[in-house]
Amino acid sequence: MKEELKALVEEATKAIEEKTDLKSLEELRVKYLGKKGKITAFKKNISKLPNEEKPMAGKLINETSREVEKILEKRKEIIKKELLEKKIKEEKIDVTANFDIYETGHFSVINQTMAELEEIFQNMGFDVVEGPEIDTVKNVFDDLNSPKNHPSRSLSDTFYIDEDTLLRPHTSSMQIRVMNEGKLPIKMVSAGRVFRNDEVDATHSPMFHQLECLVVDENASLANLKSTLETFIKEMFGNDMKMRYRPHHFPFTEPSLEVDVTCPSCGGKGCPACSNTGWSMELLGGGMVHPNVLENCGIDSEKYTGFAFGLGVDRIAMVKYGLDDIRLLFDNDKRFIKQF
Ligand code: DAH
Repeated sequence: MKEELKALVEEATKAIEEKTDLKSLEELRVKYLGKKGKITAFKKNISKLPNEEKPMAGKLINETSREVEKILEKRKEIIKKELLEKKIKEEKIDVTANFDIYETGHFSVINQTMAELEEIFQNMGFDVVEGPEIDTVKNVFDDLNSPKNHPSRSLSDTFYIDEDTLLRPHTSSMQIRVMNEGKLPIKMVSAGRVFRNDEVDATHSPMFHQLECLVVDENASLANLKSTLETFIKEMFGNDMKMRYRPHHFPFTEPSLEVDVTCPSCGGKGCPACSNTGWSMELLGGGMVHPNVLENCGIDSEKYTGFAFGLGVDRIAMVKYGLDDIRLLFDNDKRFIKQF
């Protein structure tokens, strides 16, 4: 019997080693150790042995059972480990995969342009100030010396929230806010969104962006305004960009001017985009701060002078990147956005 059991263990061991899944391993356990198993069969035969051989035979069969049990357990652990490793390998998440679906975003052209503008002015020593998109009629119109009948005040031009508050139609209200803080001299820029009741077309949007600039000091002059503008245009568009000044009227500046630059479509030769003038649409308005505006903010206009301008950030971006339609900036068309 001893020999038979030994042969059985060898046979079982060999079979167990060959198994690679838990199900067939369990089948082997049943085959050898189950109720009708090959080793169990020996137990049943003990009763047929002579009494003196029974204890030894029982011991031997039990030892054999335990041995096979152990081999089964060992193999079971190995198979489990292998299955787990296989599963991990198959399910491993490749974080670089699916990059077509999850693209990394970036700042919009407008935000990039705004940041670039702020940096240019910071390098010239300007503070960058932030202000609210909802402001008072006093800050937006009254203290900026706007006559009560100015067209920009009308309901058809401006979005009012109530009689005294509105969505700011320009960033010039930031001039009033900063001057009212009472700290002089002032050298600031402030960029952000503005709102007007405009129909959407290639050059108009009811929401667009401006950057306001204000300098108030004892000797601020028109020459300072011009040199600031010329430095800025060169920094933004390069040394070859030409600019021109045109006289204009704004209630809050005297004298007032507007600035155009070389038409980005034809480089100044004249084309349909610039109505053959060779110049872009106006990029900014500015001038010397009207004494009334200084006085409205408690600043002595005999002692202090100021210059200011407000530029269209969207138009700057259009000139810089040669865009012929402002809507491209807001449409979120990936084919456009991806280029920046
Ligand atoms: N606020 C004017 C506009 O939106 C632009 C402007 C003109 C701003 C003259 C100024 C300025 O600071 O001095 O059209």
